[in-house]
Amino acid sequence: MHVVVLNGVNLDVIGRRDPEVYGGLNIRQLESKIFEWAMELELNVKCRQTNSEGEYVDWCHEALDWANGVIVNPGAWTHYSYAIRDAVELFDVPVVEVHLSNIEQREEWRRRSVISDLTAKRVIGKGPDGYREALAYLAGNE
Ligand code: DQA
Repeated sequence: MHVVVLNGVNLDVIGRRDPEVYGGLNIRQLESKIFEWAMELELNVKCRQTNSEGEYVDWCHEALDWANGVIVNPGAWTHYSYAIRDAVELFDVPVVEVHLSNIEQREEWRRRSVISDLTAKRVIGKGPDGYREALAYLAGNE
């Protein structure tokens, strides 16, 4: 099974952001964990991160012909990007929305996700382990 993990804006610097909120790993360490978990679950995983909204949309388009499952954490775009919503809507495979922090218990503006109704599952506020839960869901082991 092919799974693409698409991390968006500012997730490249999670290691520099508040460890209480974001878990303290840097993006390479997070991606290494994702690869380890994917191996245990026998998933073929591709991890990508960008700060460019257009690139994120392009990667969604590319994944249409490759992925059987998608994990998205669009960072702040989650809360307002209809361009990313339109791209996510194109998937006919399960999409899991992951957020390291608990966006439901932070500022008011973070409570809104413009993609939540398109997703098969949401994993919020579980730090890096949220990606493991998302992978396990896609692998059918949850
Ligand atoms: C985030 C939550 C967003 O509100 C924030 O803008 C991020 C990261 C998370 O993983 O907790 O950059 O998506």
